[in-house]
Amino acid sequence: SEGRRPLVAGNWKMNGLRSSIATVEAIRDGLSPQLLADIDVLICPPATLVSACVEAVKGSPIAIGGQNLHARPNGAFTGSISAEMFADLGASYVIVGHSERRAYHYETDDGVHAKALGARRAGLRGIICVGETMEERQQGRALDIVRAQLAIGIPKGATAEDTVIAYEPVWAIGSGRTPTPKEIAEVHASLREMLDKMAGTEGAKIRILYGGSVKPGNARELMAVENVDGALVGGASLVAEDFLGICRAYA
Ligand code: G3P
Repeated sequence: SEGRRPLVAGNWKMNGLRSSIATVEAIRDGLSPQLLADIDVLICPPATLVSACVEAVKGSPIAIGGQNLHARPNGAFTGSISAEMFADLGASYVIVGHSERRAYHYETDDGVHAKALGARRAGLRGIICVGETMEERQQGRALDIVRAQLAIGIPKGATAEDTVIAYEPVWAIGSGRTPTPKEIAEVHASLREMLDKMAGTEGAKIRILYGGSVKPGNARELMAVENVDGALVGGASLVAEDFLGICRAYA
């Protein structure tokens, strides 16, 4: 909406072996030039496959991204991967603050902020994830939660070139349940208003994706919601035909 170019992003999470490059190839071959002229497509495989995925999409506009990063560029952080390392492999995006990182790896809003800065430092686009739990929604706190996550997480001076926001209600992830279009519209309008205030005319260009049980069957309806600028897709991004079906919701 409003001139923001849709982005359909796949998050493979901890799934995929080298044989899964075939999925990337099938996605690449299944996207028509006309569709790729209208939307951005991104796949975030596990870090082990980033290089091979970059290779597989060479010559196509499909982007490859990481799922998480360490905020620092390098150093004594065993097992961690920096934004510079992802950029070095040819990745152009990285997911920051996914609810699974927040829940299982104790990531805080301040940590998310540091990681978003790290992504920007290395020239990667950070996809900053926000979202409430079911309990928080039932307590009527959904808007407060996501607004606070955005306010703390987003770097000052964020631009559409370096930042994407993803609204992923925790209870909608992998559950087959989604908020109603009205509920999604309410959250996205609230985040949009914040971006407009924080980043002015530049903020108006920052995309806000919806994530959580996006499937080929509901993509058209979800993507038509006001202020929804694309999708962050988990499970359905592991199957080429499903991911292509979601991309084609824009055709
Ligand atoms: O990051 C995307 C993800 O959390 C949504 O997962 O499986 O509900 O599409 P899924």
